[in-house]
Amino acid sequence: MDLHWQSSLATGNELIDKQHQELFRRMEKLLESVNSGQGPKCVSNAITFLENYAFHHFRAEEELQRKNNYPEYESHKVQHRIFMEDVARLRGDLDRQGASAELQLKAIASVGNWICNHINKRDKSLASYLQERDETVKHS
Ligand SMILES: [Fe+2]
Ligand SMILES: [Fe+2]
Repeated sequence: MDLHWQSSLATGNELIDKQHQELFRRMEKLLESVNSGQGPKCVSNAITFLENYAFHHFRAEEELQRKNNYPEYESHKVQHRIFMEDVARLRGDLDRQGASAELQLKAIASVGNWICNHINKRDKSLASYLQERDETVKHS
């Protein structure tokens, strides 16, 4: 499973892209802790880091949207909330006694897929909106 950030995921917004890269690093850490059989405590810590960082990132994106009157703010925010619920479910799955490494990896892969889809659909739209707005301000 490949959870590396790649340039095709770049939105063009520096802040958003930096935070996405960090989000991927935290996903990789989680993957590593499952892969190397580090035990439930390490896996749980890695999920906590991911949750905290995702929360921080979503808040930053939502603030940018509010400040710039982004028309899709509400629906974008719903997507972020769904992600946080998915991660909470992932924690439940991983905490559950007897979940095989294979199942755990599957759960992480689906969270990784979600992030890629969200970036490609939602965050790229947001970034181009912000860029257009920026250019309008510069030229007015
Ligand atoms: Fe994002
Ligand atoms: Fe987003």
